[in-house]
Amino acid sequence: MDDLDALLSSAPGQVAATDSLEGLDAVEAELVGRRSLVTERRRGLGQLDPAERPAVGARLNEVAATLQELVDGRRLMLEREAEDRLLVEDRVDITVPRRLVATGTSHLITQTIDEISDIFTAIGYQIADGPEAETAWHNFDALNTPWWHPSRLESDTMYLDYGDPEDEILLRTHTSTVQARTMESQPPPVHVIAPGRCYRTDTFDATHSPVFHQFEGLAVAEGITFQDLKGTLLYFAREYFGPDRTIRLIPHFFPFTEPSAEMHVSCFACDGSGCRVCSHSGWIELLGCGMVDPNVFEAIGYDPSQVTGFAFGGGIERVAMVRHGIDDIRHLWDNDLRVNEQFV
Ligand code: PHE
Repeated sequence: MDDLDALLSSAPGQVAATDSLEGLDAVEAELVGRRSLVTERRRGLGQLDPAERPAVGARLNEVAATLQELVDGRRLMLEREAEDRLLVEDRVDITVPRRLVATGTSHLITQTIDEISDIFTAIGYQIADGPEAETAWHNFDALNTPWWHPSRLESDTMYLDYGDPEDEILLRTHTSTVQARTMESQPPPVHVIAPGRCYRTDTFDATHSPVFHQFEGLAVAEGITFQDLKGTLLYFAREYFGPDRTIRLIPHFFPFTEPSAEMHVSCFACDGSGCRVCSHSGWIELLGCGMVDPNVFEAIGYDPSQVTGFAFGGGIERVAMVRHGIDDIRHLWDNDLRVNEQFV
């Protein structure tokens, strides 16, 4: 039994020195496997004196169990260590700053369109739309604009098809075309806001662009009054420029509204005392408006004895430039990121 004792005393050191699972498999085979000392001794049990066998057998079992325990204990440790190592190696450091991806944002014009649309849809208006290539009828005739009106000349309006008054196609000069189109397509009542692109033969300068945007408002129902127009514009001015704004309406002329007015908003930069923003007048000219002319109702098939309405139309670039202090409309068309990045 000496060599078994020797094995029992050397095995713990051997097992402890094994530092891989593959190595431990080999050690296990050596200690308790088919060719191990313990197995060899078990095979020899048959040759022993029957009286000795139980004690020797029990001793062999004990030694085998001790060796197996050593191996199993070490295996558990090695597996844990492997797992711990894996946890460390695979750890994701969530505090590492992410790589910054450049993200785009809407252009200021789009933002302004969205904001104005929100302001009016919040009080029940629907968004309306119309084509940019438009008939002269929708751009002028339906809107009570006589054939001789100077704005119809090629010097003011870009035509795709010019000459035959019945058949003229142009790039719409204002979003008021959507007034005519909306009323044509549905009975009253109507409450729409129509943002969109317009074209005029203007030379590009600080305040003009041959392509620009307007927003058109139209409300038609029984009993709509000039007071409703004024209240709606005041609501818009306060939503867009701040709660302290007041407005004034100055008599004006448009073929499609009667009476017509120009709406001014009190200067938000100086509160009326006069500054550069309002050209020292305390007021900022903002948009055109008025009560829909009965001739327009007749042209599109509404009964002017049944309904009344108001309309207004303003420049998107204009209101955005006023609010954000942009002094040149070309900044909005130049694709200069230094400008665009200020309005994210
Ligand atoms: N269409 C006019 C313009 O372009 C503005 C306007 C719209 C005026 C609606 C009155 C009513 O200047």
